[in-house]
Amino acid sequence: MNIKRACVIGWPVSHSRSPLIHGYWLGKYGILGSYDRQAVPPGAVRAFLDSLGEEGYLGCNVTLPHKETVFDLVNIADEATRRLGVVNTVFSRNGELWGTSTDGEGFLASVEAEIAGWEVSGRNIMLLGAGGAARAIAGTLVARGAAQVQVANRTLERAEILRNDFGKRIMPLAWDAAPAALAELDLLVNTTSLGMTGQPPLQIDLGRLPGAAVVADIVYVPLETAFLRSARERGNRIVGGLGMLLHQAVRGFELWFGTRPEVTRDLHDFIAESIEKGYRST
Ligand code: ATR
Repeated sequence: MNIKRACVIGWPVSHSRSPLIHGYWLGKYGILGSYDRQAVPPGAVRAFLDSLGEEGYLGCNVTLPHKETVFDLVNIADEATRRLGVVNTVFSRNGELWGTSTDGEGFLASVEAEIAGWEVSGRNIMLLGAGGAARAIAGTLVARGAAQVQVANRTLERAEILRNDFGKRIMPLAWDAAPAALAELDLLVNTTSLGMTGQPPLQIDLGRLPGAAVVADIVYVPLETAFLRSARERGNRIVGGLGMLLHQAVRGFELWFGTRPEVTRDLHDFIAESIEKGYRST
């Protein structure tokens, strides 16, 4: 019998929770398949991709530090990914490898799923941070009709690069100017690593943020950061980072295994439990 196989490649890769997510869905939908981790060192990515099919894989996820390398090695499936310059999902079609990025859509889907009736079109949004995650999220927000995406970053030049790449609806902002610019926001997002376990907390005065604004964090360890907690305690609706992790996995699963999986509360709780237990695979 033919087992459908996929994997995640990274260096290191042991921290990846993708096998738990895809394993959960394979079981739930009764699909004869597997999803494992492959530790691929820098320098070995091309050889791994060349042998992907021979190894029996239909595709893979790509995590740090290979997202840019893989972008250069596969056919790019869509214009949004071409602009982004990174790939997190690889799939084979007609004997060729194709790559796409699902991080931006994963973020947006998590907000839409957790905030009933929320629509990105016409919204004023601020991203804290201008790194790789901000790039994926900003590209999707602009493509999906956000009115304005302010990007506040410690290194202003990185925010300016986002404006050059994604257009004038991106507004670069000095990091210190963020608190004063919160007044008109519909959505505020932390895309930095601040607040992650082992990192310094994200400290920002939310005093001017409207009560109706949604506050999101892409950090999911811990599940609720101090930043999110302070937003929740002042009455804002919040979206944690775990939703993005789950929703970004949807399209890859569908591409490899042929079923569009659902992000359910049960899956959320299953992965949340693994995080709370400090799950580490060896
Ligand atoms: P990722 O791909 O996860 O987004 P990254 O590209 O390294 O990671 O980006 C990390 C983001 O967190 C950047 O916006 C970074 O700001 P700089 O561009 O100025 O480096 C931000 N960041 C990290 N530590 C920070 C700190 N102590 N204060 C403010 N911003 C910080």
